[in-house]
Amino acid sequence: MNRTRIDCIVGARPNFVKMAPILNGLHSDAPHLEPRLVHTGQHYDQVMSGLFFDQLGLPRPNVHLGVGSGSHGQQTARVLAAYEELLLQDEPPVATLVVGDVNSTLACALAAVKLGIPVIHVEAGLRSFDRTMPEELNRVLTDAITDLLLVTEPSGTTNLRREGRPESAIRLVGNVMIDALESQLEAARALDQPQRFGLTPEGYSLWTLHRPSNVDDPARLSALVDHVARTADTLPVVWPVHPRTRQQLERHGLWGALEDHATIHAIEPQGYLEFLGLSSAARLIVTDSGGLQEEATVLGVPCLTLRANTERPITVDVGTNTLVGDDPAHLPPLIDDVLAGRYKAGQRPPLWDGQARLRVAHEVTTFLAGRGHHP
Ligand code: UD1
Repeated sequence: MNRTRIDCIVGARPNFVKMAPILNGLHSDAPHLEPRLVHTGQHYDQVMSGLFFDQLGLPRPNVHLGVGSGSHGQQTARVLAAYEELLLQDEPPVATLVVGDVNSTLACALAAVKLGIPVIHVEAGLRSFDRTMPEELNRVLTDAITDLLLVTEPSGTTNLRREGRPESAIRLVGNVMIDALESQLEAARALDQPQRFGLTPEGYSLWTLHRPSNVDDPARLSALVDHVARTADTLPVVWPVHPRTRQQLERHGLWGALEDHATIHAIEPQGYLEFLGLSSAARLIVTDSGGLQEEATVLGVPCLTLRANTERPITVDVGTNTLVGDDPAHLPPLIDDVLAGRYKAGQRPPLWDGQARLRVAHEVTTFLAGRGHHP
């Protein structure tokens, strides 16, 4: 066993945002450890991956597994096989640290645990209780085989206890994604993103849609596009379109009308800084993303989530988030509330203070010391 190496896994866009602060925290507060950054290649485009590395100051991955896109089974299996092969080639690390809920998270956790390598999961315990979501299956299965469960919000602790995970394995550390946000907000604002589209701060709504449940069904996607257009009649829309969504819009003949619409800015996926520049100045966010519900809460921007459930309930209970439900017809009255100043203000959840990376580093160090790996 390599007595200092800890494998840190990233695969898809939201992972990069979480891993950047974690690596900083390990560097400053656990310098005895040598993180090996492993990129599975689940996301591979410059706009989905490369740009995030540059802007977040992530080092080049030590290993790139290059798995690419595929069906869930194919993608998960390819990551599992490729990461297992890596682990077998070399001395095993002291632990494998995974983040979030993407296919790469589950696949690498499974490869590691089967080889007797302890797994650390950052963002453990979140549950939507909706097993039609691929991410929910990834969350439940990853947490079942994780040795150290690092949790962002109290619901995570409750869920893990209910699932019988031992108290000693669960630690509430806060939200590392907010560390990234806090460190980049000033630079993001300085880019003056609204002005790129001839807009002013708080003079537009920001939309993102990529969940299969919203974009893979043509009838639902078409209804959502109608609501985008309807909103744009009163408040301009900026919509960075995810590759999955773009494919569906083109396939169903919905893309052209969007491109031609004067007050809809349907644009490429944005880099981290550009996107934060847009989200922090938006009057309103409409989304089905998980992470954006959290970012909107910290930014104090009203967030309407086009889902029936959320695995991040604190964003609704404490923050600025509201679940719109499955029917987009519920959107217009909520948008009216925001525009009329009747929408709730929201607060910042506890431990979302920009310092979560230090608590992660501390818990990782304590966990490894308990296994005989002392600083
Ligand atoms: C994945 C995650 C999801 C996360 C999202 C963030 C799973 C199950 N899903 O969904 O939880 O919220 O990332 O973006 O892990 N594509 C490109 N370029 C890329 C990557 C993908 O064009 O760099 C296209 C491919 O056609 C691919 C499609 O986007 O088939 C979907 O990518 P995939 O990684 O399968 O899922 P996401 O929808 O991105």
